[in-house]
Amino acid sequence: MNSAEILHWLHEQDPDRLQILWDRADSLRRKHVGDAVHLRGLIEFSNNCRSCCQYCGMRADRRSLERYRMTEHEILTSAREAVSRGYGAIVMQSGEDSGLDAEWLAQIVETIKRETPLAVTLSCGERSRDELVCWRKAGADRYFLRFETSSRALWKSIHPPRTKDSPHRLEILNGIKDLGYETGSGIMVGIPGQTWASLVDDIEWFRRLDLDMIGSGPFIPHVETPLGRTSLQSPQHAIPDQVPNTELMTYKVMALTRLACPRANIPTTTALATLNREQGSKLGLERGANVMMVNLTPPKYRAFYEIYPEKACIGESPLDQKHRVSTLLASLGRYAGGGPGTSPNFQIRRSAATPAVTRS
Ligand code: 5AD
Repeated sequence: MNSAEILHWLHEQDPDRLQILWDRADSLRRKHVGDAVHLRGLIEFSNNCRSCCQYCGMRADRRSLERYRMTEHEILTSAREAVSRGYGAIVMQSGEDSGLDAEWLAQIVETIKRETPLAVTLSCGERSRDELVCWRKAGADRYFLRFETSSRALWKSIHPPRTKDSPHRLEILNGIKDLGYETGSGIMVGIPGQTWASLVDDIEWFRRLDLDMIGSGPFIPHVETPLGRTSLQSPQHAIPDQVPNTELMTYKVMALTRLACPRANIPTTTALATLNREQGSKLGLERGANVMMVNLTPPKYRAFYEIYPEKACIGESPLDQKHRVSTLLASLGRYAGGGPGTSPNFQIRRSAATPAVTRS
């Protein structure tokens, strides 16, 4: 698939022709990653953040947001909940928490790896090489960091770098891969300022980076952020070739991602489910995705992990959550994957090379 074909599909509006794209993505999904849907227990363990991304509701200077960091005991309890539900992996996600002690997190990862069969994904933002090495040595299997957009100009305008020589996330991702992590990234679809050409580039970057996990979701404006405010108050200021932040565009990106990276794990995201609570996850899983996130953050913290407003499943009870997931999988004729659900992309890469850092 070349860039002209990607662009053509991104512009396609005809439902019958789009059905061809959905069918292609679905059959590639079945062929390369099978019918299992891997469930990942999501633990949003800290909403502290030192970064001031223009789009994100957890940005450092949003003073009105109450901040939390879960205790070790709370994190381990959520991890054990994942085990008791039969999930093979957890995703420990946080803001770019400057108070996050690398040794503290390493010790928690070590405990989880020692006491459970879980694969552990960390997603804690742009961290130093020392921290990434420390967590990898502690046994963390995967690291997830979205590059959000491959357009350097757009990135610069929405993400103030912390230091003047902070590397671009595309470079950080290569470092993460070199440490032997199963590596994930993704973008936001329809960020104000995102052009069709840059979205084509993003999908080509997925392939070029040889990513193992690719999670992309729609941009959802948050009124307490600079970018959210302008996009809500003056949508007429959008650039002429602005990509829309719609549900349909998100499915197109997911399906094209499957075409570009057939062996990657592709989650259907909470942001997508937020745009369409009834059908979003189902349609995502029918249009390329093979992974689903299930929120295991203790309910008392969930509303504070407010990246964007009206996040789906904030008030859902564990019983309702289990029921929703099993009904969804049954309606698709698919089943929950057992074990860690490592992506075939990573299995192939791992068998071809010895990682630089192995578990101590
Ligand atoms: N809408 C949708 N997704 C967002 N993210 C941050 N802010 C928003 C928003 N307003 C996504 C980013 C980030 C991930 C944790 O959440 O892609 O990497």
